[in-house]
Amino acid sequence: MPSYAYFQNRIVPLEDANLNVMTNFMHYGTAVFEGIRGNWNDAHKQIYIFRLKEHYQRMLDGCHLLNIELPHTLDDLCRITVEVVAKCGFEEDVYVRPLAYKSSQAMGVRLHNLESDFLVFAFPWGRYLDTDHARCCVSSWRFPSEVPRAKITGLYVTNAFAKTEAVENGFDEAIMLTPDGHVAEGSGENIFLVINGQLVTTPGTDGILVGINRNTVITLAREELGIETVERHISRNELYTAEECFLTGTAVHFVPVTEIDRRKIADGKIGKLSAKLQKLFHEVILSNNPKYAEWCTPVYEK
Ligand SMILES: Cc1ncc(COP(=O)(O)O)c(C=O)c1O
Repeated sequence: MPSYAYFQNRIVPLEDANLNVMTNFMHYGTAVFEGIRGNWNDAHKQIYIFRLKEHYQRMLDGCHLLNIELPHTLDDLCRITVEVVAKCGFEEDVYVRPLAYKSSQAMGVRLHNLESDFLVFAFPWGRYLDTDHARCCVSSWRFPSEVPRAKITGLYVTNAFAKTEAVENGFDEAIMLTPDGHVAEGSGENIFLVINGQLVTTPGTDGILVGINRNTVITLAREELGIETVERHISRNELYTAEECFLTGTAVHFVPVTEIDRRKIADGKIGKLSAKLQKLFHEVILSNNPKYAEWCTPVYEK
């Protein structure tokens, strides 16, 4: 099954969506991307794109930061994306990658006097972490302190350092600290812990990428289990003594963490609250829970 892309204002086969080597953003990291999941529901014979609008709102906020002006409205971006995914015709989980980028074929480090463009493509992508529960390490790589937080391509080099360090040392994922040593997030995920019976996550003000799946879990914990999430600084020490830990993000969905820096989290098994939230989360992203159906955009017309 071929993949398609929306590229230079039309839908083309993915292999025809190619950029010139002088395209500005390739050299200076001056693009904003998103990662969006389309989840295949076999019973419904449908792909549901999860929280499409929220992803594009975040991308447009990043564009504002990078002086990227697109001719598309939020609704245009959502419509184009549904068209691209529908055209691909996949009957499995897909990953959707939009990119808003400095498109001029011009060298020079800057944000001004450059044209911008938008592309999006979709491709089948199953599990991001090839495990049911992750073994993590605390990374030696920290984010730069003056980070305007958005999914800016150039910023991800730090995350790439962290991820490769983790994998080369035998772990599934890296947990990054803030410049002042607080727990921040995974290389592509937000982190939650259960500490003294409380569900805790790192605050948006700590420079993390405020995840859409993070918000989903906070909402489900509150609405479905009556549990409020505490957003506060988390110390490295608390990682090792927490009762439970899990990661959320578009790529991983929801993955329990059972070991950090070769120390088991509690008894090293998936925690009770983690298991409950993971189950709720999976029902929601597949659009099996009508209460949250508005988060799930169907791709195929029925
Ligand atoms: C660094 C980082 N943190 C957190 C997340 C989770 O964000 P979301 O749940 O919106 O995918 C991502 C993934 O997009 C990420 O790249």
